[in-house]
Amino acid sequence: MRNAICKYVSLTCVLIVLIHSGETRMRVEKVTEPFGLSEGPHWNHRTQKLYFVDIYNQYIRRLDTATGVVTSAYVGHGPVSVVVPVDDTSDKLVAGSGKDLILVTWEGDEDSKKVPFKVLTSIESSSSDTRVNDGKVDSSGRFWIGTMGNEKLNGDVTPNQGSLYRIDDTLKPKKEITPVTISNGLAWNIDDNTFYYIDSPTRQIAAYDYDPNTGTISNKRIVFDLNKINIEGVPDGMTIDTDGNLWIAVYGGHHVIHVNPKTQKLLKKVKIPAENVTSVAFGGPLLDILYVTTAGHNLTAEQRKKTPYAGSVFAVKGLGVRGILANSFVMNEKQSDEEKSDE
Ligand code: BGC
Ligand code: CA
Repeated sequence: MRNAICKYVSLTCVLIVLIHSGETRMRVEKVTEPFGLSEGPHWNHRTQKLYFVDIYNQYIRRLDTATGVVTSAYVGHGPVSVVVPVDDTSDKLVAGSGKDLILVTWEGDEDSKKVPFKVLTSIESSSSDTRVNDGKVDSSGRFWIGTMGNEKLNGDVTPNQGSLYRIDDTLKPKKEITPVTISNGLAWNIDDNTFYYIDSPTRQIAAYDYDPNTGTISNKRIVFDLNKINIEGVPDGMTIDTDGNLWIAVYGGHHVIHVNPKTQKLLKKVKIPAENVTSVAFGGPLLDILYVTTAGHNLTAEQRKKTPYAGSVFAVKGLGVRGILANSFVMNEKQSDEEKSDE
């Protein structure tokens, strides 16, 4: 009897601790097969599907999380680094590809061997040795998209060749941060007054004051420095939860890290079964599942053996936090209706 009471008391305590920490059992699940350089997850709340890209294989991919089915669209325009739906549409997407921002028409339910697209604007001049990389849309529908030097075969990138641009519905890219080496993670807090940004090789997370009306940033400071914690690799893609804490993919680090930018403290490390963790986004009907993309390209035979699922998308459940709805790109109707294919 005494034993039974003890057992009951300790079980209750465990449950209370779990409830109080807001955390149920955390688990990491593989939700797609391994692809190449999976990147840029974006939860489309309208369709309840997860979009992501496979950069060098030049695919936009869509995961139906209810069925586990992935459909893919090949983009014949160079590496595809990011994709975001156009606001109020069900078949229009804006993507970064090559040096350009392109408009893609794809319903998403079936594979497309060569998807129709048109170039909306060139972000960098054709003579530059750069390509577009990560991007995200702000609360007013403006696309913030960065660039990086082209990668050499050994993965090296010439420093300071890239920039971060802001593109509104006039489709004229405006340089916001320059120079940068590998423009990567971006996030705005729920109050919409702070912008967080990653230039990967710095191993730092920068914050800026953000004015949502004008879309301007100012007052740069460093809010987290990976050099000060015991982790390998560089910060890559990033998202934010409703508590204002950041979730950062660590490329070459096997982990997603959870960081409080106000106290500059590391809150948690989530181990992912791949070395090169590329990006993160909250999704699911309650925005409480963290989808994590990883890289499966350029692996040695030994790495492939150790991490057979590198290149897959993973879902981290039971974190006890929620994300913020992702924004869609706002285009003026004329631009998005104009149907044309550059195939
Ligand atoms: C970039 C990718 C790049 C990869 C490998 C990531 O941080 O976002 O575009 O290909 O690193 O260098
Ligand atoms: Ca990236």
